[in-house]
Amino acid sequence: MCGIVGYVGEENASAHLLAGLSKLEYRGYDSAGIVTYFENSFQLFKTIGKLENLIKETDDGKLAGGSIGIGHTRWATHGKPSRENAHPHLGHRFALVHNGIIENEAEIKKKYLKGIDFKSKTDSEKVVWLLEKFVSEGEDVVSAIKHIMAELEGSYALGIMDLLNPDTLYAVKNKSPLLIGKGEGFNMLGSDMGAMLEKTNKFFEIADKEFAVITKDKIKIFTSYGKEIKKEPFEAHLDPEDIQKGAYPHYMLKEIEEQPSVIRRIIKEYSMPDGTLKINEKICNDIKKADKIYIIACGTSYHAALVGRVYFEKIAGKAADAFIASEFKTNMPRLSKKPIFIFISQSGETADMRAAFVNIKEMGYKSIALTNTPGSTLYREADHALLLYAGAEIAVASTKAYTAQLALLSIMAASVKNLIAINLKRELSLAANVIEGLCLEKEKYKLLAQEYLLEKDHCFYIGRGLDYYSSLEASLKLKEISYIHTEGFPAGELKHGPIALIEKGTPVIAIITQENINLNTRSNIKEVKSRGAKVLSVSLKGISSHKDSIVIDDVHEFLSPLVSIVPAHFLTYYAALQKGCDIDKPRNLAKSVTVE
Ligand code: F6R
Repeated sequence: MCGIVGYVGEENASAHLLAGLSKLEYRGYDSAGIVTYFENSFQLFKTIGKLENLIKETDDGKLAGGSIGIGHTRWATHGKPSRENAHPHLGHRFALVHNGIIENEAEIKKKYLKGIDFKSKTDSEKVVWLLEKFVSEGEDVVSAIKHIMAELEGSYALGIMDLLNPDTLYAVKNKSPLLIGKGEGFNMLGSDMGAMLEKTNKFFEIADKEFAVITKDKIKIFTSYGKEIKKEPFEAHLDPEDIQKGAYPHYMLKEIEEQPSVIRRIIKEYSMPDGTLKINEKICNDIKKADKIYIIACGTSYHAALVGRVYFEKIAGKAADAFIASEFKTNMPRLSKKPIFIFISQSGETADMRAAFVNIKEMGYKSIALTNTPGSTLYREADHALLLYAGAEIAVASTKAYTAQLALLSIMAASVKNLIAINLKRELSLAANVIEGLCLEKEKYKLLAQEYLLEKDHCFYIGRGLDYYSSLEASLKLKEISYIHTEGFPAGELKHGPIALIEKGTPVIAIITQENINLNTRSNIKEVKSRGAKVLSVSLKGISSHKDSIVIDDVHEFLSPLVSIVPAHFLTYYAALQKGCDIDKPRNLAKSVTVE
C-alpha cells in the first residue's frame, strides 16, 4: 500500500527519494510523486503508473534539486489514481504526504476548510490545508501539528515540509507505520525500513500519536501534547541483498525457491544446545498457563493460523482456534477464562490484524507475535515476538513467509508439549529437502499449468483436514496472481452445493497428503470426474495412486502442508506467466495492507 520516504541531508535528495520509493514498489501503488526544496520553492513531480514514469519525468531525479524532500507511492482509496490525487499535496507553505485514512474528513472540511478550492479528491489534501489554516491563524508549526493531531480521526503517517523552515522534515503518526532512519550527516523517514536500508540500519520508532522534528543532524520526538520523549535507536539486521532479484525473472519465483533455505534458517535459529528445536521458555510457559489459544491473522497468514490450530490441538493438546482478524474485531467470540493470543503477520503492520491486536491489548491479555519484520509495529508492541527469519518477501503473493509460519507453528506446538516423540528437527530438515526436490521439477509444473489452467476462467482446489487448509491457501495464490477465479473447498462439502459448478473441463486440483482421508478424497475425485471435471491430483508418495499427476516424497503427516503448497506455488506462477500477468505486483493488491 502507500509508501512514504523522506530525506534531509547534504546530498541530492531526489536520488535518495527515488531509490527509497523503488524499494517500496512491492507494497503496491498506482501513482508516485516527490517534492524537494530548491532555490526558495518546492519542486513537485507526480506521475501515474509505474515509478519509471516518475524517474523519466524527473530525468532520473536531476530536475528536482535540493537536499531535502519527501516522496510517496499511492494506492488509491479516496479518489481514483490520477496525477491530481497523487501525493505530495501542496498548500501555500507546506507540502505533505500521507498514508492511512482520515475518517472525519467530511467534518474537518465542513468545520475548517470552507471555500478552499481543492485540487484533488483525497482526504490527504484536507490535512495540508488544515495545517495551513492553523498556521495562518498565528500558530507556529509545532503547535499546528499538535492541533491537527487533536482534530484528525483515523490512521495517518504524515511527512511534511515547510517552505519557511527548509532544513526541517516533520513526521506525524497514528496507526499507520512510520519510522525515522538515523544517519551521519543526514536523517530519513519512511513507512518501511526497506526504503531507508541502503542508507542506514539505525531507526527510531515513532509510536501512535507522536510526532518528530527532523533536521540533518537532529531528531526530536514528541507526544501529541508536545512533551519531548527520549528514545534510543534500534538496529535492523535486514540484508539489502535480500531485496535484490538476482538472476530470477520475478521475486515470486526466487521466493518459492528460497523455501528450503528458509526452513533451514528456522531450524538454526530455534535450535537448542541439546539439539532439540524450542521456542523461548517464557513464551512456552505463558502458552501452557493459558486455557485456550486464539490465533488471529489475515489472508495467507490466516491459512497458516488454521494449520497452527491443528498443531496446537493435536501436537500440544491445547484448545485452540483461528480467526480472521477483521471478523474477530467485528464479532469477538466469548473468550475463555485464561486466553492467550497469537498474532501472525508477515509484515507486522496489517491494519485489520492491528485493530484486533489493539482490542485485546486494551483488555489486558497476553499476546505473541509471529512476524517476519523485526521492528514492525506488531513486533514492538506484542508481549512476546518470534521471528520467521524468511528474509525480505517482496512479491505481493506470500510464499516463503507462509512456509516459515507453518514451520514455526510446528516448533511452538512441539515446544509446549516438550515433545521429543517427533524428532522435529529431522522432520523439518526432511521437508526442506523434499521442497528442494520439488523445485527441480519446474518444467513439469509449466506443462501442467498449460494443460490444466491456460484459458480457464474457474478452478477448484479440494482437500480434507490439513489438505483443506492447503486448498484454501493454494486457491488464494492462484486467484490473486493469475486472476483465474479459484475456490478452495473441503472435499467432503462439494456434494452439498459447490459441485453444481462443475462442468466439462473444469479444473479441480485435489490435495491428498493424509492417510486417514485418502480414500474419502479419492471418492470425491470420482464424483467430480463423473461430472466432467479435469482432475489434477497431488499426493504424498506413501498414499499415491498411479493416476496422480504430482507425487511428493513422504514427510511427517503434520508437516505435509509445508510441502504440498509448493506445487501450488509453481502452478500459480506458471499460469500467471503464461497469461502475461504482472506476477510480483498483481492488480488491486498491496503487500502491506495498512488500511482496515
Ligand atoms: C496473499 C497475502 C495476503 C497476506 C495478508 C496478511 O498472498 O500475502 O493475504 O497474507 O494481507 O498480511 P500479513 O501477513 O503481512 O499480515
